[in-house]
Amino acid sequence: MTDVFYRSPASEYPQISHGEGIYLWDTTGKRYLDGASGALVANLGHGRQEIAQAMAAQAGRVAFAHTMRFTSAAQEELAARIARLLPYGLRHTYPVSGGSEATETAIKLARQYFLEIGQPQRFRVLARWASYHGNSLGALSASGHLARRRPYAPLLSDAFAHFPPPDSACPGPGADGECDCTRALRAALEQSDPATVAAILLEPVGGSALSGLVPHDGYFEAVRRIADEYGILLIADEVMTGFGRTGEILGMCHFETAPDLITAAKGLSGGYAPLGAVIAGDRVYGAIRGGSGRFAHGFTYGGHPVACAAGAKALEILEREQLVDNARRMGALLRAGLEDLAQRFPAVQEVRGLGLMQGLVLQTAPNPGAYATRLSDIAFADGLIVYAGSGGPEGVLGDHVLIAPPLVVDAAGVQELLDLLAAAFATLASLVRSDA
Ligand SMILES: Cc1ncc(COP(=O)(O)O)c(C=O)c1O
Repeated sequence: MTDVFYRSPASEYPQISHGEGIYLWDTTGKRYLDGASGALVANLGHGRQEIAQAMAAQAGRVAFAHTMRFTSAAQEELAARIARLLPYGLRHTYPVSGGSEATETAIKLARQYFLEIGQPQRFRVLARWASYHGNSLGALSASGHLARRRPYAPLLSDAFAHFPPPDSACPGPGADGECDCTRALRAALEQSDPATVAAILLEPVGGSALSGLVPHDGYFEAVRRIADEYGILLIADEVMTGFGRTGEILGMCHFETAPDLITAAKGLSGGYAPLGAVIAGDRVYGAIRGGSGRFAHGFTYGGHPVACAAGAKALEILEREQLVDNARRMGALLRAGLEDLAQRFPAVQEVRGLGLMQGLVLQTAPNPGAYATRLSDIAFADGLIVYAGSGGPEGVLGDHVLIAPPLVVDAAGVQELLDLLAAAFATLASLVRSDA
């Protein structure tokens, strides 16, 4: 009997022992290939002593000093590294402790920006159906993932409106630069009264709600144009895609579209510490700095020196080992292998994604999520971790999995992952046959 309130209290969990590179071991000695980097978190691989030492050194000097009163060398270094790495003038880092906190922060920052520039009527946020931005109530209100929203629907805010995700079958923009996908955004804006909208919040590549969906060419350019036309901020949720996962430093780099704000977490520290951030360009930062001079927001642990030390070291390694390039090269190998797997297993209907963020769309199961969950349970039993998802543009229906090993994976690791995955699909096929 445990005293822990587990995520699923009726379940039993193996106890983690240690990790190294793309592998984890539990306390029975069983080895797992981490084909999902946890939940697209462990980008630098497991067991990096260098990061552990940087955190220990920081904790040994001072573990906590409130950011109301102090900055720290770790926070300054993290922000300086981010400013150097990111394009689009994104160089003002507001550190927090995770993705949901980053979403809450970005929403409030957008709101305050409009207060600062004398447009107090703007507060609404537009986001997409089949999106995920976090589980705290503001972030969940923004999220368009129905299964996660439904139990809490009475608590969600109507300051958020939703429009459909890009259609993967859309032929792209016509001569006017628009398509049905961007017209749906315009329609949602008009319905919400565009003069009250503060921000459009989007994941560059579909994450847990739309495994690997890549918008078609011209989509983000049109979204940016529409945002500008109505004077609205564009926020890119780079919590999963940011810092190399897709083979570019940011997901938005694939679309050459500059957001006003991004949210980041997960890969920012590679999971070595709970760390997230909102990173702003000059437009928003300048309005606060030159206006009231104070962002009316804050979390006790935002800018925690130990978390920032982990993030700074993680970014140093990302650069030194050229892991963004590796994500691009290994992503191409992984993609080719997954497409081959899709030929062999009819359960796989589509392969999509960028770099080391690849999604498999599965045959729709009678119960939402059933195939994806079953596949990931089979794989887990055989020592492979994948990330199961459910839902899609039509609602709760849709099964998919994300395959996203750490960015340090090599060709042998990709092949081992593919072999384990093929074995899991073979088992799934035989179980589904015996159910029928
Ligand atoms: C795109 C995206 N945004 C936000 C979040 C929320 O992050 P966290 O779980 O760290 O609060 C997630 C988590 O999976 C995510 O995938």
